[in-house]
Amino acid sequence: MIKGLQSMSDLFSKIDLEKGSLGGRPVENRYLSNLRGFFANEDAYQSCLEQDNALLYSVSSMTPAEGEGQLHLGLGVLYPGKVGDEYYMTKGHLHTKREAAEVYVGLKGVGYMLLEHEVSQESMLVSLAEGEVVYVPGYTAHRTINTGDMPLAYLGIYPWDAGHDYGAIAERNFLKVLVEREGQPVLLDRQ
Ligand code: F6R
Ligand code: MN
Repeated sequence: MIKGLQSMSDLFSKIDLEKGSLGGRPVENRYLSNLRGFFANEDAYQSCLEQDNALLYSVSSMTPAEGEGQLHLGLGVLYPGKVGDEYYMTKGHLHTKREAAEVYVGLKGVGYMLLEHEVSQESMLVSLAEGEVVYVPGYTAHRTINTGDMPLAYLGIYPWDAGHDYGAIAERNFLKVLVEREGQPVLLDRQ
């Protein structure tokens, strides 16, 4: 059944970068304690956690309509900081529906997206900053990394039924790590 415009409640949404909320939707927070095992330096992770269970990022998302061809929107705000020399980052995931692609639009701040193809295992580091757009193809694990000194805010747009698979990443993590060396981000192989 094709619905008319009047039946859609979300033809317009406001982005609130202060609250991290999209269209007034709730904000889900991810703290340092939620990313146990994700950072390369376990000792650095433990000592950061003992000092402060810092807020790493928040996500606020909405599904204006469900069904084939519909889209889901997510606002992410990733805070600046490091665990040892590794920049704050999101958990990262593959989409449950592997062919589902995603578009990221940078709204504020500077950072990168680390992409890793599930089949070829190729990695790519792509800039994500205010005014930049990153296309994440299907079958590609993606993680956002803040290399700046202010929050990195971005909008992700993806098929409504893409789903999130965190399992594979939680088990073996990404093959590369982004660390600071002499003030600059450097991509290294995970040891
Ligand atoms: C949705 C998407 C983003 C992330 C957000 C948080 O498919 O890619 O909205 O969900 O950047 O990262 P994760 O989900 O990896 O904790
Ligand atoms: Mn995604």
